Amino acid sequence: LKDAKVAFTSTIIEKGNWKLVWENNRECYHCSSNHPALCRSFPLDPEVAGVQADGGVSKKLQVHFDRCEAAGTPAQFVLAGDGQYRLARMPLQEKALSYTMDGKAAVSRHLGRVAPPDAGTLLMFHYPSTWNHFLPDHSLTFRVMPISPTETEVTTTWLVHKDAVEGVDYDLKRLTEVWIATNDEDREIVETNQQGILSPAYVPGPYSPAQESGVMQFADWYAAWLERALAPRQVAAE
Ligand SMILES: [Fe+2]
Repeated sequence: LKDAKVAFTSTIIEKGNWKLVWENNRECYHCSSNHPALCRSFPLDPEVAGVQADGGVSKKLQVHFDRCEAAGTPAQFVLAGDGQYRLARMPLQEKALSYTMDGKAAVSRHLGRVAPPDAGTLLMFHYPSTWNHFLPDHSLTFRVMPISPTETEVTTTWLVHKDAVEGVDYDLKRLTEVWIATNDEDREIVETNQQGILSPAYVPGPYSPAQESGVMQFADWYAAWLERALAPRQVAAE
């Protein structure tokens, strides 16, 4: 990223609580019915967005990690002991190289040193404020900022190689259109969820262990963090 420059930034306000924005991010149960552009490249496999309870990964994912690592590209699943951050280089849909409508790379001059062009997306979340996608050709960072109990600011930054030239190495619309659409689709889901939760008829439902393991992991991290923050301070005997 030291060789990156900002190609584009978007800031949107979602009329929903910060926690709802994160819960939406931590599962892709909603993807197939809400994200037609993203689903051209992003896999619907719940293992990609989710987290297995034991921190393990499937054989299919391990094959992808091993292939990337053999090519000198770190890929292994890493989950912080307290669950605050996670890294893993996840495969995209078959033949997709980047988040574009045709699945081809968005930037001809690549950012970074990722060898396999189909290495997929290095996913990194770090609670409470950021999730990221680092692709072979460009990177996306997301900043999540609570504004009020029912408003959250989401800032997305598209990073390309500092020497990449707009109109030559990349087309700005092609680079940004998938996640501009995806962010707006997620905004609508978050806002609809917020409206539902504000209803006096709202009752929380169970999470799907298969499809929403990431949401469960996020909720567990948040609850544990609150417990630590609210616990009475240990007072030294002396
Ligand atoms: Fe989404």
